[in-house]
Amino acid sequence: MNRLIDTLICTDKANKVLAESYAKALYVDLCEIDLSNELSSKAFAKFFSDKTSKDCILLMDEEGLHLQMLHPAVFKIQVNFVSSQMEYRRTKGGGSNQLIAKSVGIKPNFFPVVIDATAGLGKDAFVLASLGCNVTMAERNSCVRLLLEDGLRRANEVAKKNPELKIIMERLNLVSGDAKELFQSQLIESAEVIYLDPMFPHPEKRVLVKKDMQMLQFLVGEDEDSKCLLDSALSTKVGRVVVKRSRKVNAIASKQASYVLKGKRNRYDIYLNHPNS
Ligand SMILES: C[S@@+](CC[C@H](N)C(=O)[O-])C[C@H]1O[C@@H](n2cnc3c(N)ncnc32)[C@H](O)[C@@H]1O
Repeated sequence: MNRLIDTLICTDKANKVLAESYAKALYVDLCEIDLSNELSSKAFAKFFSDKTSKDCILLMDEEGLHLQMLHPAVFKIQVNFVSSQMEYRRTKGGGSNQLIAKSVGIKPNFFPVVIDATAGLGKDAFVLASLGCNVTMAERNSCVRLLLEDGLRRANEVAKKNPELKIIMERLNLVSGDAKELFQSQLIESAEVIYLDPMFPHPEKRVLVKKDMQMLQFLVGEDEDSKCLLDSALSTKVGRVVVKRSRKVNAIASKQASYVLKGKRNRYDIYLNHPNS
């Protein structure tokens, strides 16, 4: 049984079988509900709160799998690679001039193979894939991974009728488990960059932190072993290791980064494992 979630509520009959498999994968109860009438957000929270002893549930509705917070605030998040924000970022986000592109070393004719060892909600991985990189995402939290899986499933459906998106989706691959194990596997042989964005304590006021980050903090907490993850990445033969951090927090490692790219809110600490990379 998951410590933070005990119920998956399915309100979408068409996705009942999928909801069953998700509930089984997470060892949570499945509850099917026919929601024919619209509920106000307060009534909605009360209605769902009666089905669980936790502060949130997983919700499978017509728009796919969500993490639905019920207490203290009512809001939901999901992985959505085809949202208007992701579309805007993809088409107007600055292409290879973005710091993230520079951080992994994208050049006009070079699109490195990346291991995103801290996939989270897959936003950075999707940006890198849309810029031309093949990206293997690793996510160890089973609930976050399920949200990612569902986001990939829905985007792959849309991609069937969208050739441009199809090419991007084909560059994305999700693996389970701790990335440190991935570093010991064959997949590391073809990787040119390891990208790390572990959770860190947010110095900003809670209200300033985006809802999806609040939800990740709730699910994952702080990645207290991030130094160990970085050391493990640096011990591979991969030539470039990138760590994304908020500008306001310290670097993870005792070892100094080769150089740092600074943006308005984030910075990228770049460790060149081999001098020519
Ligand atoms: C800040 S989030 C990453 C956000 C992501 N860059 C995005 O664009 O959505 C950090 C994620 O890394 C995952 N994580 C941390 N350490 C990990 C490890 N050693 N192996 C796999 N996943 C890890 C956490 O579970 C969490 O979901």
